[in-house]
Amino acid sequence: MKIILLGAPGAGKGTQAKRLAEKYDIPHVSTGDIFRANIKNQTPIGIVAKSYIDKGQLVPDEVTVEIVKQRLNEPDCQKGYLLDGFPRNVYQAEELDKISNVEKVIDIEVDFTKLLKRITGRRVCACGESYHVDFLEGKTECARCGGKLYQRADDNEATVNERLSVYQKQTAPLIDYYKKAGKLVVIDGDKAIDEVFEEIVNKLK
Ligand code: AP5
Ligand code: MG
Ligand code: ZN
Repeated sequence: MKIILLGAPGAGKGTQAKRLAEKYDIPHVSTGDIFRANIKNQTPIGIVAKSYIDKGQLVPDEVTVEIVKQRLNEPDCQKGYLLDGFPRNVYQAEELDKISNVEKVIDIEVDFTKLLKRITGRRVCACGESYHVDFLEGKTECARCGGKLYQRADDNEATVNERLSVYQKQTAPLIDYYKKAGKLVVIDGDKAIDEVFEEIVNKLK
């Protein structure tokens, strides 16, 4: 199964990707996670990526596309993959079309007014799991792996506003791009996490 998860920042791509990857036993490929790992390890890619991510802007296409091409070439991606956060503009989508045949594009839709609260209240674990302070009841450790939860550097209000604006200008046109290709599946992301998951699984059948 070759799937893309599309959706604005905070729509729940990472949350659903983690669950879907487990269910279908396919790798979860998140460009955001790859960049954050590079930033942590202070690699040359990480140093470039950080300067864009901190501002809420897209990392240049030549860097991003190359990373994804290499990742999708790895043996574990041959049977399928779940792309989270890529493509993010029409150019990236065209480049992806040249190297792989995506089957379905799941667009998780959430009212824009709710996204800021979701993201600024997010706490993440190094294992990839996300939480929201409203449901943590003061817990500071990951329920899955026990890791210490922290807040992403780009989850502050100013950067989130820029990310939302970049999404509208550059990423939202992909909805039409994949609708025309007959691959788009629209999901109401404004429900409980388990309900959103169920809807995605049903629509993938
Ligand atoms: P990336 O890491 O992809 O961030 P993003 O797109 O801004 O999306 P988020 O990770 O913020 O949101 P999400 O949809 O995964 O939401 P989540 O599930 O965590 O990218 C970061 C940066 O990297 C970009 O700004 C860019 O600079 C760069 N980058 C990445 N890819 C790139 C590319 N292809 N090209 C160029 N640059 C690139 O959920 C959010 C919160 O909501 C959590 O607290 C969660 O618990 C909660 N939540 C989830 N689902 C629900 C629900 N159903 N109900 C209530 N709360 C929920
Ligand atoms: Mg994410
Ligand atoms: Zn964890």
